[in-house]
Amino acid sequence: MKILVIHGPNLNLLGVREPEVYGKMTLADINAALGSLGQQLGCTLEYFQSNSEGAIVDAIQSSLNSINGILINPAAYTHTSVAIRDALAAVALPVVEVHLSNIHKREEFRAKSHVAPVALGQISGFGPESYLLGLRALATHLGSKS
Ligand code: DQA
Repeated sequence: MKILVIHGPNLNLLGVREPEVYGKMTLADINAALGSLGQQLGCTLEYFQSNSEGAIVDAIQSSLNSINGILINPAAYTHTSVAIRDALAAVALPVVEVHLSNIHKREEFRAKSHVAPVALGQISGFGPESYLLGLRALATHLGSKS
């Protein structure tokens, strides 16, 4: 099983960015934790981070035919990007949406996700554990389909 992990804008600054909201782990720490869980679950992971909406759309499009599922934290684009949602719908791969913070407990504009309607589900509010829970959910889903 090949899973593409996509991190949206500003997540490259994890560790220094508002640690009271997003914690102290860096993106490299999170990817390393995902990598070891992926090994246990029998998944190969590819990682992609970009601050650009178009680059994320390109990464989603290029996953067609080579990737089995997508784990995505679209970050701020969650709340704004019809283009990312449409790309996910176009490739029609199983998608799990994750967030470090609980987007339903913060400013009102964060409660809206354009990605959620094209995702299997959304995990939000557990810090880096959201990614690990998301990977488990995606791997279980993919395993049940194979
Ligand atoms: C986030 C929540 C978003 O609202 C925010 O714009 C982010 C990170 C999270 O992981 O909690 O950049 O996706």
